[in-house]
Amino acid sequence: MEYKKKNNLRPETLILSYGYVPAWSEYALKPPIYQTSTFIFKSARDGKRFFEIAYGLKEKEPTEQIGLIYSRLNNPNLEILEDRLTLYDKAEDAAVFSSGMSAIATTILTFLRPNDKIVYSSPLYGGTYYLFEHFLRDFGIEVLKFYSNEDENIAIELIRREKPKIIYIETPANPTLDMIDIELFSKLAKEINALLIVDNTFLGPIYQKPLEFGADLVIYSATKYISGHSDVVAGAVVGYSKYISEIKKTRTFLGTITDPIDAWLLMRSLETLKIRFEKQTQNAIEIAKFLKEHPKVKKVYYPEFFTSRQYEIYKKQCLGPGAMISFDIKGDEEEAFKFLDSLKVFRLAVSLGGTESLAEHPWSMTHSDIEEEEKLKIGITRSMIRLSIGIEYVEDLINDLNQALNNI
Ligand SMILES: Cc1ncc(COP(=O)(O)O)c(C=O)c1O
Repeated sequence: MEYKKKNNLRPETLILSYGYVPAWSEYALKPPIYQTSTFIFKSARDGKRFFEIAYGLKEKEPTEQIGLIYSRLNNPNLEILEDRLTLYDKAEDAAVFSSGMSAIATTILTFLRPNDKIVYSSPLYGGTYYLFEHFLRDFGIEVLKFYSNEDENIAIELIRREKPKIIYIETPANPTLDMIDIELFSKLAKEINALLIVDNTFLGPIYQKPLEFGADLVIYSATKYISGHSDVVAGAVVGYSKYISEIKKTRTFLGTITDPIDAWLLMRSLETLKIRFEKQTQNAIEIAKFLKEHPKVKKVYYPEFFTSRQYEIYKKQCLGPGAMISFDIKGDEEEAFKFLDSLKVFRLAVSLGGTESLAEHPWSMTHSDIEEEEKLKIGITRSMIRLSIGIEYVEDLINDLNQALNNI
């Protein structure tokens, strides 16, 4: 198709115009917001054909697109965004959702049925943990896990023995930034005919591209770096067309698609994703170094400081350390809270990836659903702080952290 020709251009260039034809809208340079619930068919025959393809009743021609039907199925803003989301990950297709959680839930519900098994890596985002451990179990799905801070052979043995339908990993993991070898687990997935799904929210798609290492599907909380301005809640899945078309079918019937305005905002954000993330990462490197030397800080969790196998995985599959830092303060919850309440530039809020720097307490906030014993096992302590570094002037951030640490 003409409008999708890439002409060997790089994602940084294509991201500004890919998937949009100005003739669709009076030659407007930027796509308008198609704020409409439904679309007019040119003929009844067209309507019939669009439904046949959308519902998978008939095979579509290789070059044929699903016509526009209804905004729970598709909409130009969503299609432009989905086309652009394929670029950095070099994916065949993408699907956008109303949140990261709806992207995860819709994907899992597409491929799992009662009595199927899923193996996941722990730790992962607290909401995903809740979905797997409480919700999926209630639907008769067998939920198994391995710890990303343990010897890989334990996970390999578990997966070979249990032969799950899905291997679900989060790397770097939230909030410890543990690294998991995507290539290793993709080989394992192929061996047992499982799908490897990677939550790439923390580094992707700029600093980590799981499809290049053999993942089948990549999930994003687009609320984070992809939106980047803390003003949209959304999710995305990218990967092979054969899987994405199945996921889109589930999305149609669960109604977990996002709306044209949020899709438009995400499309706008994508244009600056790389430069935002690069600046955030530059700031994070400086801040991680500062924290490592501070006498009130016990331990810093940041990929640049990893050692042995964790560092080896980081160097193999990541193009940069990203802008998330966790650290343990010397002390307990009381000292952690005193630090958080003393911050003036950093905002005390969950979420991450936005232009402004945020700080939170995983133990009692994002990961509070996880049982205490489990939290300790996966390395979440009562004195742990998680930072999301923004684009501010880095010295302002360091001075803020310094005064709050000295206030403990
Ligand atoms: C790694 C990760 N995955 C998924 C999610 C869920 O995304 P959302 O909040 O957009 O539903 C989050 C949210 O914090 C996250 O950090």
